[in-house]
Amino acid sequence: MTQRPYVIDQMISAKAIAARIEDLAQQISQAFSDTDKLVVVGILRGSFVFIADLVRELDLDIEVDFIEVTSYGNEMKSSGEVRILKDLRGAIEGRDVLVVEDIVDTGFTMHHVSQHLMSRNPKKLQSIALLDKPSRREVEFKATYTGFEIPDEFVVGYGIDYAQRNRNLPYIGKVRFT
Ligand code: IMP
Ligand code: MG
Repeated sequence: MTQRPYVIDQMISAKAIAARIEDLAQQISQAFSDTDKLVVVGILRGSFVFIADLVRELDLDIEVDFIEVTSYGNEMKSSGEVRILKDLRGAIEGRDVLVVEDIVDTGFTMHHVSQHLMSRNPKKLQSIALLDKPSRREVEFKATYTGFEIPDEFVVGYGIDYAQRNRNLPYIGKVRFT
């Protein structure tokens, strides 16, 4: 794809992200305080930085697993068709599960992934999204926990990409075409 030139304006600082994660991790640790082991499922690839920081704040025994889905190609909006590219390695039947996503946008991804995981009869399934763009929703979905609600801007950083770039920024920034 041809890349139009753009700059990135900081929207959420690394410090603000860290503070919010501490807070959410406390809530999650309480919600699952009776678990013997929580399965934390990251949705690849955008959640890899978030999940790494989140699990280190959880006061629980955990396992980590990953699922990879695609709905985008290299475009800036969802195609609405969600495909599973890589499924979980472990079984989740009868288990406590937390799904970790970078952004809920149209809602297609989390709606589909939640249904997919629920069909395997976990004991309890909750979800967390670092970011939520509620104004963009096309299918009903509300994460159990949300880091930050943001306006309809295309964002990058902290694991989140634009055509695979900018995942390594330590903060969340918005893309502004120049
Ligand atoms: P949804 O299926 O439309 O809710 O989209 C969710 C997925 O779209 C996220 O996992 C992201 O990978 C991607 N996405 C949504 N908004 C953005 C954005 O602003 N920047 C980068 N990726 C995004
Ligand atoms: Mg994603």
